[in-house]
Amino acid sequence: MAEFDIAIRGGTVCTAAERFRADLGIRNGRIATITSSVLDAKRVIDASGLLILPGGIDAHVHVSQPSGEDVVMADDFASATRSAAAGGTTTIMPFALQEKGRSLRECVRAYHALAEGQLHVDTSFHLIISDPTPQVLGQELPALVRDGYTSFKVFMTYDDLVLSDRELIEVFDVARRERALVMVHAEGHDAIHHLTRKLEEEGNTAPYFHGPSRPQIVEREATHRAISHAELVDLPIVIVHVSGEQAMEQIQWARRRGRRVFAETCPQYIVLTEDDLRGLNMDFEGAKYVCSPPPRDRDSQEAIWRGLSDGTFDLFSSDHCPFRYADKHGKDRPGARTSFRWVPNGIPGIETRLPILFSEGVSKGRITLERFVELTATNPARLYGLHPRKGSIIPGADADIVLWDPAKHETIRQERLHHGADYTPYEGMAVVGWPVLTMVRGRIVAEDARVSGDPGWGVYLERSLSTAV
Ligand code: URP
Ligand code: ZN
Ligand code: ZN
Repeated sequence: MAEFDIAIRGGTVCTAAERFRADLGIRNGRIATITSSVLDAKRVIDASGLLILPGGIDAHVHVSQPSGEDVVMADDFASATRSAAAGGTTTIMPFALQEKGRSLRECVRAYHALAEGQLHVDTSFHLIISDPTPQVLGQELPALVRDGYTSFKVFMTYDDLVLSDRELIEVFDVARRERALVMVHAEGHDAIHHLTRKLEEEGNTAPYFHGPSRPQIVEREATHRAISHAELVDLPIVIVHVSGEQAMEQIQWARRRGRRVFAETCPQYIVLTEDDLRGLNMDFEGAKYVCSPPPRDRDSQEAIWRGLSDGTFDLFSSDHCPFRYADKHGKDRPGARTSFRWVPNGIPGIETRLPILFSEGVSKGRITLERFVELTATNPARLYGLHPRKGSIIPGADADIVLWDPAKHETIRQERLHHGADYTPYEGMAVVGWPVLTMVRGRIVAEDARVSGDPGWGVYLERSLSTAV
């Protein structure tokens, strides 16, 4: 009888702290040993020349999320987790969204039904609170936090989701009592409304004008307001999808004041700009890049890189929010060609998140390999209550492993991706570094861009309270 089920031999183990040459022994889906040589295993995987990374944790994705009348998200749980597996991500964290007027608990139950039996990789849900009634705040939310839904997102914009300042503070207060972590979408709703109306009056309705309708000042103001409300009730918060320097400055200011404010950024803010929204000639092609906050300019990209390197950012997530482009239920929904206001917000990116950060960050020397691991796996696990089971290569952790070829040259092409969208905003982008094998709890779920088997191996993860706050 062999001592281990699997040995991964000859690779370089990389953690958030260090890198070193070692073999891994895997038993019963967990990392059993990390040592100089593992010989006695049923199966040996040769990792010579490869990096052995903890599987990516994408802590901000949208899957099968209700998105308004006639709009359908391009990914269900099967296609989103298939795409995640191919891209080196072993845990995803989508949002169970409370629709206005509905019970939060009921929405969570319905969301579980969509995921049941459909997962290629492990999954855990954040919540979205859109209707903080006394019943939700007094009973449903506290009970759900105790059941392992220990983080939730609130919105400062979008007609269907926006909370008033009073509601935000009330939600924050419950989160503090329950020790849940709140993720904030920080863009000021009224300012966006004002700018949108003016742009439309001037005839500026192409997708490009989505950007000018949500300039950095809108994000900066809301970030400051969220931080101030959180300080009022003494709550740690996460500012998600930070797009540029102005919001970063608010976060740095709050931290200097001793506030616990965590920050997330995403691929679109390091490789896309407002110019991408121009499309071919200010045409509807720009809709492929409509997301919120919108991509900014080159200076903003540089600011984000500084933040990724200097610790301003804790998390690098995809904010995968896929809509098909040539689809009346997607970007081309009724009305979308009459004004950017009707274009569904969000772009796909679950499969390309790790290659883009590795290539633009590690391969180009902007961030270290250790920082890459920290931003994409270890920090999300710590922050969202999955540590030590996920996000680290340590004995006892789940054997969620990615073998990464740091020298592999690839070109991002829609036809090679596994998501349900009909385009990628990163079409034609050359990258160096690519995942060649993805393992979830000791089972290979993807190898050389082929996803193995039917969905069903992935499990739902109940989470602890954050260990980072
Ligand atoms: O445009 C985006 N980011 N759509 C996804 C929803 C959100 O706000 O994260
Ligand atoms: Zn958001
Ligand atoms: Zn999002």
